[in-house]
Amino acid sequence: MDHFLYRDGALHAEDVAIGDIAAAVGTPFYVYSTATLERHYRLFEEALAGLPHLICFAMKSNGNLAVIRTLAELGAGIDVVSAGEYLKARAAGVPGDRIVFSGVGKTREEMRLALGGGIRQFNVESEPELLALNEVALSMGLRAPITIRVNPDVDAKTHEKIATGKKENKFGIPIGRARAVYAEAAALKGIEVVGIDVHIGSQLTELEPFEQAYLKVADLARQLRADGHDIRRLDLGGGLGIPYERSNSAPPLPLDYGAVIKRTVGDLGCEVEIEPGRLISGNAGLMVSRVIYVKSGEERDFLILDSAMNDLVRPSMYGAHHDIVPVAEPAPGTGTRPYDVVGPVCETGDTFARQRPLPPMAAGDLVAFRSAGAYGAVMASEYNARPLIPEVLVKGDQFAVIRARPTYDEMINRDTIPVWL
Ligand code: LLP
Repeated sequence: MDHFLYRDGALHAEDVAIGDIAAAVGTPFYVYSTATLERHYRLFEEALAGLPHLICFAMKSNGNLAVIRTLAELGAGIDVVSAGEYLKARAAGVPGDRIVFSGVGKTREEMRLALGGGIRQFNVESEPELLALNEVALSMGLRAPITIRVNPDVDAKTHEKIATGKKENKFGIPIGRARAVYAEAAALKGIEVVGIDVHIGSQLTELEPFEQAYLKVADLARQLRADGHDIRRLDLGGGLGIPYERSNSAPPLPLDYGAVIKRTVGDLGCEVEIEPGRLISGNAGLMVSRVIYVKSGEERDFLILDSAMNDLVRPSMYGAHHDIVPVAEPAPGTGTRPYDVVGPVCETGDTFARQRPLPPMAAGDLVAFRSAGAYGAVMASEYNARPLIPEVLVKGDQFAVIRARPTYDEMINRDTIPVWL
């Protein structure tokens, strides 16, 4: 459920008409609903009620400071994957002891920054990383709290580019080697083992892969405890999928996911962390765009928008589906016709949808891409020198620009011409 509904014939974000934002900000832009972000966060809180837990929002899905602050005020932790994300989380007001640091390629500089600034734990993904972190921590006179990310060799049954839990993927340590690596970690003076981490992929639409992975983690936790390790925290990753196509999909609910967690690891007495991104931010955001032209081709009609693959890359990168709706509600009984919905970028891959049934559209009309709050703005670029797409946050009847569109001058002046030219 989200808070983007038609009211008096016009699409609204909570109590604000999308058309009013478009008039104030120009198009294209992203708009997020505070109520939806909060609602989705609370669904996880309810799902894990009764277990000691921390919900660490995966900032890679939406890193805007205002979004992070909104969630942090509810008590959320944050999952970061770079120095930049760490610093943004801190700038948004998240204390270090609510930040977990994931990722296969943390540099020593990033480790130093997070250790110095305060960190809940590093999720370590390899032995070389473990040794590097030990060195950095010792050089600072500190001990780095860690989990080790294990790769459970489970098929997440999702898009190949976002599945991470099979043994051929670059992530984590094979679960069969985990005991040896934990023994190695326990011998390092700069390292403090606090738990186990797992993340098997993103946009999972079934619970069974989670169940398989978490059962393996529970077994491992028992073995490691028997080996003498103090396993007190389990980071179970993110990945619960969302319904991108309202018409035909209904992924499991956070409550059902919480039941899997309780059933598989609930008896271990561990603190549970999860790292959801998409389920919290995805359906809390729209990308809004204007039709520049309707071009009638020989075989099909093209809806040419003022947004493009640089603004929302998911369709061209993953073949992803986003529902597209007109901002003006079609009158009852209005028929549809198929359009190829495209952007102005000079490549055929700049196609959002082919033969998508929409009510008849005209130049100047506004359309909204649904489910665009996760992996939308964060993956945007300035390809074709199209200024970075702005972001807007709505709360009730208020809205604010939370990242402004750069001016052409700002964009141009970011480049520097060397003295010899
Ligand atoms: N934790 C870790 C270690 C991750 O790698 C990810 C996502 C998450 C948590 C959050 O997963 P979520 O709950 O959002 O599914 N750009 C792609 C998605 C990439 C996901 C990468 N890792 C897309 O647009 O579909």
